[in-house]
Amino acid sequence: MKDTVLTGITTTGTPHLGNYVGAIRPAVAASKENVRAFYFMADYHALVKNQDPERLCSSSLEIAATWLALGLDTDKVVFYRQSDIPEIPQLMWIVSSLAAKGLMNRAHAYKAAVAANDEVGDRDPDKGITMALFSYPVLMAADILMFSANKVPVGKDQIQHVEMARDIAQRFNHVYGDTFVLPEAVVGDDAATLLGLDGRKMSKSYNNTIPLFLPPKKLRKQVMKIKTNSLEPGEPKDPDDACTVFDIYKAFANEAETAAFRQKLESGASWGDAKQELFEYLDAHLSESRTEYDRLIQDPAAIEAILQKGAGKAREHSSALMEKVREAVGIRSFG
Ligand code: TRP
Repeated sequence: MKDTVLTGITTTGTPHLGNYVGAIRPAVAASKENVRAFYFMADYHALVKNQDPERLCSSSLEIAATWLALGLDTDKVVFYRQSDIPEIPQLMWIVSSLAAKGLMNRAHAYKAAVAANDEVGDRDPDKGITMALFSYPVLMAADILMFSANKVPVGKDQIQHVEMARDIAQRFNHVYGDTFVLPEAVVGDDAATLLGLDGRKMSKSYNNTIPLFLPPKKLRKQVMKIKTNSLEPGEPKDPDDACTVFDIYKAFANEAETAAFRQKLESGASWGDAKQELFEYLDAHLSESRTEYDRLIQDPAAIEAILQKGAGKAREHSSALMEKVREAVGIRSFG
């Protein structure tokens, strides 16, 4: 049987180089393989963290435009918005009835929030914790089980959620008979994370990112902001010592180009020259998709049409599955 691959992208923030290398590039490449693939924008999930309506909406638009500009083939992949699939919250409620609260208590994100409250001492351990944060893994289980996905590419922080989805599916199948496919997390290799401006992992939470489709001038400015050590021009630089300049270059360039860049650093190129070269490389590499991105972002109606087409395809699956689930649990018509 062909694999069914499914992954969600939370719509908070503007896509950056780290998202591209870690998630978007491999997903777009995988979409060209012979698989059934479902990629969607997890805008219900985004609500947990993002309660700025304009930002939530613009982030969705930017993410959709980014994936499309980078060559996602929406004839092959089902590409949709979570919130366009009414069956997802319906399934979420039904599987909630089988999701043990004790299992959710162990979710990392919830536990971290409680731990942060505990640190303050006399604070209510659940201060600031919403039901949506607590139920996040159940919504994610509905996303996954809805499309009978067996492979779920995610970052390390999401493995636990996929395991919870599997656990919930097993309980359901045990109680109501075989209904759901048991999903499995697929974790990309570590090489697929990028260092950010400050030398830590590039991440929105560290505020150290370089957005993917900045206009050239701004892109250059960001690249010039990358933190380096204070070695002078002429002194050899170690490309393997938390060197963001080299790390980003390597993630984009081919082997020969990377070797040449390494050689330059090792033989004492100045940081200024190295950054200029990195900027020029990125700018050239991204310019074609950036032009496409700029075109798409000016045409939200075209993006909307693509997403609606995707939702139509997705709903063929979700409505059929929901019928099966309702039948299984006994929510049926009398007729
Ligand atoms: N929670 C995921 C993240 O923050 C996004 C997501 C939502 C997801 N639903 C999903 C990923 C289903 C995989 C499958 O990255």
